[in-house]
Amino acid sequence: MIPESFIEEVLSRTDIVQVIGRYVKLQHKGANWMACCPFHKEKTPSFSVNPARQFFKCFGCGEKGTAITFLMKYKGLTFPEAIKELADNLGMEVPEDPSAKVREAAARTLTDYLAQAAAFYHENLFRDRGTIEYLKGRGITEATARKFQLGFSPDAWQGLEKVFPGQSYFDSKLEESGLVIAKEDGHRYDRFRNRVMYPIRNPRGQVIGFGARTMVPGEEPKYLNSPETPVYHKSRELYGLYEGRDAIHKKGRAIVCEGYMDVIQMSQAGFEETVAALGTSITPEHVKKLFQLSDNVYFSFDGDAAGFKAARRAMESTLSTIMDTQTAHFVILPQDEDPDSLIKKQGAQAFEAQLSASFPLSKFFVMDIVREVTAGRGLRTAEERAQAVSIAKPLLQRMTAQALRQLLVQEFAAAVRMDPGELAALCGVTLVKETSRSLTQSTTAGYGRDVNQKERFKRPLKPVTTGPVFANIKRRLLQCLLVHPQWLVKYSDRIEDELLDTVDEYEEAIVKLWHLATDHVHKTADDKGEHLTTGYLLSFLQNDPLYEKLVELVDQEATLETSADVAEYEIKCAFLKLEKARLDAMIMELLAMEERGEPVDSEFIGRLFKRRQLIHQSLVQESTEAVDRIMDSVLS
Ligand code: UTP
Ligand code: MN
Repeated sequence: MIPESFIEEVLSRTDIVQVIGRYVKLQHKGANWMACCPFHKEKTPSFSVNPARQFFKCFGCGEKGTAITFLMKYKGLTFPEAIKELADNLGMEVPEDPSAKVREAAARTLTDYLAQAAAFYHENLFRDRGTIEYLKGRGITEATARKFQLGFSPDAWQGLEKVFPGQSYFDSKLEESGLVIAKEDGHRYDRFRNRVMYPIRNPRGQVIGFGARTMVPGEEPKYLNSPETPVYHKSRELYGLYEGRDAIHKKGRAIVCEGYMDVIQMSQAGFEETVAALGTSITPEHVKKLFQLSDNVYFSFDGDAAGFKAARRAMESTLSTIMDTQTAHFVILPQDEDPDSLIKKQGAQAFEAQLSASFPLSKFFVMDIVREVTAGRGLRTAEERAQAVSIAKPLLQRMTAQALRQLLVQEFAAAVRMDPGELAALCGVTLVKETSRSLTQSTTAGYGRDVNQKERFKRPLKPVTTGPVFANIKRRLLQCLLVHPQWLVKYSDRIEDELLDTVDEYEEAIVKLWHLATDHVHKTADDKGEHLTTGYLLSFLQNDPLYEKLVELVDQEATLETSADVAEYEIKCAFLKLEKARLDAMIMELLAMEERGEPVDSEFIGRLFKRRQLIHQSLVQESTEAVDRIMDSVLS
């Protein structure tokens, strides 16, 4: 865990223009910086970075976010990794709790060992005729061998002693790295001997493990892989991701194959955006990683039983991860072909044709289930259709992408000749009629707030600041506060007065931002919030359910471009409208009490009326002065 205070420090010192400028050539255009978008292909720049807001946005493809989101999307980093990179840029060292520090130090030595071994194997490659011939025979060029740092592990029991001489060969870290195997009697030997070595790198480019292929026909296992180690988790890592990351961005798609050699051959043939899972099926973590880098993922599987099984697993992992804005496609290759062999026989166009003919997730979903039930004959009986439904049910249930699920249900319903509504009911999923609760809707939670500590006034029961009118007011209030965060500080008291018993998502969002802003003020000398930026606030809400919606609001402002003083005026009006609603509720409640014969302070009611009237007038006048006057006064 990185301490919050440190994250805050890093974020407040980070400049998004510098961060993105490291990867993208930015040009000054007015208040903003522009570039050709790194997330999609384009010739004229539509990617804009706004330094005042610390926010980027592409008008072409719609990618947008903060410095952190940029690093996560562009480099495929996790949140802590992105923070680390930002800290590195600022020359700051991430303070970690001691156990994490030990862990990190340990991990570093493991990757150091692995890097040294990779360099050693790679050098050996150019000395070993046999390996050179083998790779040549498979059509691999020297440039490709260098790009993937392919190597050769010598045919010797302690070959690595050349790199780790004497006592260092007995370092327990070397065993932990998976490079050597230790026997109980203390005897040690190299895990990888006489094999072609494929180093596996993490997104940061560090070597974390190896795949090792035999060159001896018939030898088992064909591939020997590194064991799981503290730095290598095969359920997470993808072979070729480091090498292919830039191409994934440029082409806007990722291709997932089954094997090491497929990735290498594909890359050489121009499909540099190719990766593979390593001796394991595709996990949801893999899919998540890929969708972080690109919204379009193609899975390619061999057209045999094992290939179909692997495709099913990939489909399952995709269903639980995919979002409505993303697409997944499935390529099923001809029997007995893999991408490597197909490209060698028929060239790159043959694979491109396979991609064009691939099945989108919705089609593959139906096809694969029907294939499982009927072995390709097609559904014939009611029993077969029922069986298909029972297979589909848990798969549909794990989906979170609502629109996509709806389409899948419709496609599947047609295949099993059912009504989509019935199918959905059978599968325990709801067909969406309207969009799920969003920022444009509001809840009907109760409204309540104490009046001047006058406890005898019961809280009004009627929800007064809900409903579409208030939703619009609050939505706009949130938007103005989000893009001009200094007003979060200036109108802090108002937020406390009007919004603290949150009744809907807008209020919740405003209160969250307000907390962040006040924290910032407490921890820095920035008591007017002059250094608060939108991007800074958003960075803290990265994992918040409200995040996407907030980003949308900022995004919309890219067109509206509300100036700070106009925003301030709108903010004041919004608060006055909310206060007026609160006064209304209080007056109603008091009048109802009076009607029931309960004692009420009628002079107090009079003052409420008076203030309500003043607010009303100032809002009707729409004049800055009138609004200012009433904002500066309080209920007397
Ligand atoms: P394949 O047998 O299809 O190998 O296994 P390949 O990638 O086509 O390799 P070449 O073309 O024969 O050199 C696909 C993947 O399954 C894993 C490896 O990750 C391999 O790339 N595998 C296969 C193993 O981990 N161990 C094995 O013994 C075999
Ligand atoms: Mn192969």
